Amino acid sequence: MRAKIAEKFKTLFGEDGDFFASAGRINLIGEHTDYNGGFVFPGAVDKGIMAEIRPNGTEKVCVYSIDMDEYVEFGLKEEDAPAQSWARYVFGVCRETIKRGGNISGFNAVFAGDVPLGAGMSSSAALESTFAFALNYLFDLKIDKFELARIGQSTEHNYCGVKCGIMDQFASVFGKAGNLIRLDCKTMEYKYYPFHPDGYRLVLVDSAVKHELASSAYNKRRESCERAAAAIRRNHPEVEFLRDARMEWLEEVKADITEEDYMRAEYVIDEVQRVLDVCDALERDDYETVGEKMYETHYGMSKLYEVSCEELDFLNDLARECGVTGSRVMGGGFGGCTINLVRNELYDKFIDRAKSSFTEKFGHSPKIYDVVISDGARKLQ
Ligand code: GLA
Repeated sequence: MRAKIAEKFKTLFGEDGDFFASAGRINLIGEHTDYNGGFVFPGAVDKGIMAEIRPNGTEKVCVYSIDMDEYVEFGLKEEDAPAQSWARYVFGVCRETIKRGGNISGFNAVFAGDVPLGAGMSSSAALESTFAFALNYLFDLKIDKFELARIGQSTEHNYCGVKCGIMDQFASVFGKAGNLIRLDCKTMEYKYYPFHPDGYRLVLVDSAVKHELASSAYNKRRESCERAAAAIRRNHPEVEFLRDARMEWLEEVKADITEEDYMRAEYVIDEVQRVLDVCDALERDDYETVGEKMYETHYGMSKLYEVSCEELDFLNDLARECGVTGSRVMGGGFGGCTINLVRNELYDKFIDRAKSSFTEKFGHSPKIYDVVISDGARKLQ
């Protein structure tokens, strides 16, 4: 990938730049908890975005995407937003950096990636954090890592229409090889957990399903949670986010909120606790409990939060039938992949079965990605 980028950069701009990279992410557990002030448990992966970048001394950004085979130029003012959705991520990062006082000017860039799109592994966060990290370095802005993650998140909010939480950008910036990170999304306290599950493997099974309305459905989930939290807050003013609420308190307002909002909140309150339970289980190397919690998350995401789909439910059922330790839909949902905690000796059988049964039912083969937990945003030598 690096050689391809370098060649293109030379052809387009006649010089060399610096190389930067960042990663997609997995999440062991803690889904849709981030924007509810709860816990998440992600890690960066060995698939990501790589970019070659060099300031060009003008007010213009010239950027080429190898994967889209498209070249775009834009200025740095709010009215200069490009039409191409991939370029809006880069533009958004520039704008959010400027809004934070970052004194940047134009640059040339070529980038490529290998995070599967729409698989729930956050290719967009990888793109945002690559550019946020690079601009910070190249223009010597001294923005701290939390703020780099927030630049990516605000890019999603303000330029891409997704009211996401902080998990993806955080994992992409803070990722560390061999470690998962437990993040408290309310206080932003985090802790690295070395993750080497002896005797087990983590594998993603990608349904290759993408749902068109995923971002509006995502935003609706968030609104449901905010309404439920607001209702609870009337009785319990200390409840800033659903994360602060207890199930009994949700019960108290059951009659005041819609059934749908109730179900969403019920899922979130349980899910926040599940992250903590999984952390405890990991301290004891108790992977059976980790796996059980993953199945519980899948059930909640499918039946209460309603962000699964037929293909993902099928993969989850199949995992259970095969005796896989833990399995669930990963990321925002509405398509993408399941994350599976599989005993080594079961791995081949499960993968064969997942491929053949899924293909038979849905007419296309799922893709398989072995999880390698890797470093996040960085400058390459
Ligand atoms: C998407 C969002 C994250 C998070 C997950 C669900 O990946 O970008 O902020 O909400 O969905 O856990």
